[in-house]
Amino acid sequence: MTDSQDKKTTSAPTTAANQAWGGRFDEPVDDFVARFTASVQFDQRLYREDIQGSIAHAQMLCEVDVLSAEERDQIVAGLEHIGEDIGAGNFTWSIAREDVHMNIEAALTERIGSVGKKLHTGRSRNDQVATDIRLWLRHQIDDLTTLVGLLQRGIIDLAGRHNDTIMPGFTHLQTAQPVTFGHHLLAWNEMLERDYSRLIDCRERLNQCPLGAAALAGTTYPIDRQSSAEKLGFAKPSENSLDSVSDRDFAIEFCAAASILMTHLSRISEELILWTSAQFNFIYLPDRFCTGSSIMPQKKNPDVPELVRGKTGRVNGNLIALLTLMKSQPLAYNKDNQEDKEPLFDSVDTLADCLRAFADMVPAIVANKDAMYSAAKAGFSTATDLADYLVGRGIAFRDAHEIVGKSVAYGIDKAIDLSDMSLAELRQFAPEIDADVFDVLTLEGSVAARSHHGGTAPSAVAAATLRALARLENR
Ligand code: ARG
Repeated sequence: MTDSQDKKTTSAPTTAANQAWGGRFDEPVDDFVARFTASVQFDQRLYREDIQGSIAHAQMLCEVDVLSAEERDQIVAGLEHIGEDIGAGNFTWSIAREDVHMNIEAALTERIGSVGKKLHTGRSRNDQVATDIRLWLRHQIDDLTTLVGLLQRGIIDLAGRHNDTIMPGFTHLQTAQPVTFGHHLLAWNEMLERDYSRLIDCRERLNQCPLGAAALAGTTYPIDRQSSAEKLGFAKPSENSLDSVSDRDFAIEFCAAASILMTHLSRISEELILWTSAQFNFIYLPDRFCTGSSIMPQKKNPDVPELVRGKTGRVNGNLIALLTLMKSQPLAYNKDNQEDKEPLFDSVDTLADCLRAFADMVPAIVANKDAMYSAAKAGFSTATDLADYLVGRGIAFRDAHEIVGKSVAYGIDKAIDLSDMSLAELRQFAPEIDADVFDVLTLEGSVAARSHHGGTAPSAVAAATLRALARLENR
């Protein structure tokens, strides 16, 4: 909870049966049960959307002559004042009033009198909450996609500065072939590009208005669902009233997209953690993103990426919580659904924090070009290039593989790289080798030769950087 108004929640037990539904009850709800079943402690976070939805509903009711213009105006003004008071921290939330919806509605009636009781005509908290969460999540997705874009820009800028910085590329975390650092960074960008489009997809699917579904079966009032949907910026009213109040796919879908995004951030984190270690020493992270150790004075720990890696666990947990919440739920609304909010809120908050931290940190990464270059040179990373060269000389690839394997064994024995061997040394393994072999054995020659679309050559990376930037700017 980040809003200021969240601190004022009275847990004073109710002495009368709940006013919103107490008509058929003989005794007030048990104090513990009131606390146990309440959601206002966390769903007060939806107050803006709740008020927005109620205003649209009241306006629509007036359009279809269920409310007079005067009643509508009183209700709208009352709701707006409540919104201002909540925003200013001048609103006391009550556990006895269960949730954000009933707290606001009861406060409205307290303030404007019995006309406030007409607001709930033709709706239910079931379609109300389904609307509120959609509105809220839509807004959050807009903020999150902006953050993803910010991080992507930082990555692409860094890639643009390192299109010819050579480092080892890995498979199995063993040195495989030389790549450029810019190319590696653009791989991160592709992951995030897919994450961005997953969030956009999710936003599009959730953008339907449940208002009018009421409790589950719709309502007998002559409501105009198109009008409510338009007022709230939804693409259209939802199709089926039962589905409208029970569907939480959009929350699951968001949490799945969040989990994949966090998985990507955890992979990037892992690389940053490895690269800042003394053993790799590929990059330097400014001190402001690190912390020290209270006992080991030499330590500088990459806390930000470590924490992001760790937070992936809770975001995955939230996804599983929602999937399990919805599993086997019969139609239509069930109280179980109240449990949808905290995991969803937590995934949104965690993702926003992690993206913000990364968007700040990535542009500040300093590459240690010398360490990257020596590491690429140390691992026989141009062995495949030598095999390809031999194929060019008419040797079958499998035989070339065998020949290069022997040359590598020789290099390990003598502690020299393939490119540091003399022509005579190389020829022991294949007399077909000529002096031009050194063009392909160097790291520069190796990367430059992979100049196709999607390849690691400096020229290909420079072109890919421009494409990535254009794609970002055309969103
Ligand atoms: N606080 C409830 C929730 O979050 C609102 C809907 C309650 N509906 C009901 N019929 N009890 O799901």
